[in-house]
Amino acid sequence: MHASLWQLFKWLKSVSPFFLPYIKADKVYILLMCAFLLVITVANTVMIWLLGSAVSILTATDYSQLNTTLLILAVVVLLNQSFQFAYFHTFNAVSLRYIGRVRTHLLSHVMTLSHPVTGLYERGDLIARLSNDIDRLITFVLDVPLNLLSHLLVLVFYIAMLFWIDWQLALIALLLAPLFYLLQHFLAPRKGRAANKFFNYNGDLLGFEAQTLGNLRGISSFNVEQEIQSRHAAAFDKARCWGLKMRKIDVLYNSVFALLIYLVGIIVVYSGLDGIQSGRLSVGVLVSFIVYLGYLSVPVRGIAQIPIQLQGDVGAAERVMAVMNSKPNVVDVASDELHVTQGEIVIRDLSFTYPNTDKPVFNRASETIRAGETVALVGASGSGKSTLAALIMRFYEPQHGSIEVDGVNIASVSLASLRRNVSVVWQEPFFVSDTIIGNLRLANPHASKAQIIAACKDSVAWEFIESFASGLETRIGAHGVNLSVGQYQRLSIAQAFLRDAPILILDEASSALDSESEQVLVSALQKLRANRTTLIIAHRYSSIRSADRVMYLTNDGVMLSGKHEQLYNYHEGYKRAVQWQTTVS
Ligand SMILES: Nc1ncnc2c1ncn2[C@@H]1O[C@H](COP(=O)(O)OP(=O)(O)OP(=O)(O)O)[C@@H](O)[C@H]1O
Ligand SMILES: [Mg+2]
Repeated sequence: MHASLWQLFKWLKSVSPFFLPYIKADKVYILLMCAFLLVITVANTVMIWLLGSAVSILTATDYSQLNTTLLILAVVVLLNQSFQFAYFHTFNAVSLRYIGRVRTHLLSHVMTLSHPVTGLYERGDLIARLSNDIDRLITFVLDVPLNLLSHLLVLVFYIAMLFWIDWQLALIALLLAPLFYLLQHFLAPRKGRAANKFFNYNGDLLGFEAQTLGNLRGISSFNVEQEIQSRHAAAFDKARCWGLKMRKIDVLYNSVFALLIYLVGIIVVYSGLDGIQSGRLSVGVLVSFIVYLGYLSVPVRGIAQIPIQLQGDVGAAERVMAVMNSKPNVVDVASDELHVTQGEIVIRDLSFTYPNTDKPVFNRASETIRAGETVALVGASGSGKSTLAALIMRFYEPQHGSIEVDGVNIASVSLASLRRNVSVVWQEPFFVSDTIIGNLRLANPHASKAQIIAACKDSVAWEFIESFASGLETRIGAHGVNLSVGQYQRLSIAQAFLRDAPILILDEASSALDSESEQVLVSALQKLRANRTTLIIAHRYSSIRSADRVMYLTNDGVMLSGKHEQLYNYHEGYKRAVQWQTTVS
């Protein structure tokens, strides 16, 4: 066999273990579809034969059999169409269920990857993999195997009929089969190459579009609409060029195929004339023969197209697989639960460098945050404050050293139990397109309405929520109201109140609030901080005054800590930062 078919087979073998398990749940339906196909093929074979018989009756003089023949034909047609309906309906139902299963699984997997995956793939590219590419998996999981079965059944039944009707004529027709093979042998690899290029460039294009749409304000404020437009045109052009090439091969294939079919038909009619003249064949039987032969083009073309069709789909499967194969930075294997009783955090000899970068964010840093203590974490932008929060949440594994909570290394407990005990208000708040209350419930699904309202009041969010006509039921995000950065921050803090975890990390949680709201918040936080270990990350020194202690991150990845006055007197960097801050404000 030629290389491309063999390669295809190898690909299929490597991707099948990934994608076949999702179809297992529908095994019974697949068997049912196979049975439907058998009935449909038999019905079609009978239909063509009956059609020929009707023609024979019409060309003869005795019409007595015509009514019965047509009646049987009508019944078989009805049967055939009913089974076709059942087949396609089952097919659609099974494919949609399958797509749902894979999509859900892929999204869950991406969620376990969370941080690293955002560095590996553009968001638009991921969405393309999640939608288009997964849709295409159906082709080789369901479409191709069932089509192959249907084609094989048709081939066997129709070829048997051809030989049964007239074996010499059948031989002549089948001798022309290699022409079809040559056609596909020539075009399949070319289509595969074009398809691969097209999908890569199309992924780039989607990525570019997603970036543009996510950044409309930035684009307008830089006045770069023209530039973006021409970059988009260039990206589209690359995808278009290969998309056209791919389609050109399809069109060429179809045209040449039709040409070959007519050629075979002409040769058969010419050779069949001899049989009719000698009385070996009736006109009706020759009609049946030609119809069988004509319809044989369906499986021949279908089977020949399978490699062409699959080449694009295997590309899609590989793109889905690449995401499925991406390993999370952190493996959640421990089954032990973390039970926080005190809330002491010990950072022991911690070294961390982001994957694919060289500059260490932490370099043998050690520190203890005592149970119930409120520590302000300060340092220049980019010094690693948010990274420390991410390490405490175990989004990344440190290269050296460890973080312990109440004496337990966080790497030895389940991620879920760790994250249940730590509540973080991130610099970029986390909200989905839903109502305000829906978003608050994400933080704690069991919170009562009274608790939710109390949390909103404590986080100074109630005031603006109340001003909306639908109050807590107001939709935010897409198709909803737009909140300001400060309003989002207040909602994030309400989420933290609701999570009610023994360890609290606030990453620039109040940076966008006015001084008055901040003061209200500080007193509410004081309440929240009671009996909790709290880490406040802030640039504004006004918001860290109430902390028990200050932890200062230097740019060399080392941590220093002490009372504000101590650090101020003894550390030049810290002093400069504070002085700069206070003169500015
Ligand atoms: N996902 C990432 N991959 C690679 N490097 C990263 C990643 N996130 C952050 N960094 C780098 O790590 C360093 C620390 O970043 P981090 O976000 O922790 O700083 P930060 O102290 O929180 O700064 P800011 O005050 O601006 O929020 C920076 O140099 C940043 O460029
Ligand atoms: Mg940060």
